[in-house]
Amino acid sequence: MEFRVWRFDPERDREPRMETHHVEVTRGMMLRDALLEIKARDESFTFRHSCGEGVCGSDAVNVNGRNRLACITPVAELKAPVVVRPLPGRPVIRDLVVDMSQFYGQYEAVEPWLKRREPEPEQEILQSPAERARLDGLWECILCGCCSTSCPSFWWNPEKFLGPQALLSAWRFLADSRDQAEEERLDALDGPYRLFRCHTIMNCVEACPKHLNPTRAIGHIRDRMLKKSV
Ligand code: SF4
Ligand code: SF4
Ligand code: FES
Repeated sequence: MEFRVWRFDPERDREPRMETHHVEVTRGMMLRDALLEIKARDESFTFRHSCGEGVCGSDAVNVNGRNRLACITPVAELKAPVVVRPLPGRPVIRDLVVDMSQFYGQYEAVEPWLKRREPEPEQEILQSPAERARLDGLWECILCGCCSTSCPSFWWNPEKFLGPQALLSAWRFLADSRDQAEEERLDALDGPYRLFRCHTIMNCVEACPKHLNPTRAIGHIRDRMLKKSV
């Protein structure tokens, strides 16, 4: 099968180039296996990966125009030639490795940890099964970046718009019955950009390998803001 991989070493190359490789497809082969085969031929070919199970979120790449995790993308499902590029809209460090600092910065900006006004209880903070169930579809995010790097609003305003991943995480804490910082969290999201640059284009939903729905989370935050303002 033909693979075209994006190559660029900013220290050596003036321009990026696509490099063609033919890899024999074996049963059950994932895209990560094909990339490893290419790397075995040329050690300098660079991409991130770790768990191989769709858990660590480190091997997100753009495959035939769509952001995906290489380790859980079956090669048999892809159309040849398979064109593999770095995640869009991020500075390239080398080949398929991009700089995700800004993405992590946006995540940090929503303060993704429980905040309490009351003193911590000696044991755990109790939650009913229904309260716990509200976090399903939110806690599973693996920070792969497939969503935010497929979001046009994030490409155009990465300094100001938090992007789908950070907003999904913001809602994950707003929806948590143990958190006591709703007011402060909503105030931090107010303004024309941080939340409201989402134009519900839904690229993020389509890109998420965990089948999460950042657009719905953004809608919930908007509703909560509206309730607060009336
Ligand atoms: S729905 Fe909103 S957050 Fe998701 S890709 Fe579109 S603009 Fe971005
Ligand atoms: S919401 Fe989905 S696509 Fe976005 S970072 Fe989390 S797991 Fe990845
Ligand atoms: S290598 Fe961890 S998600 Fe793919």
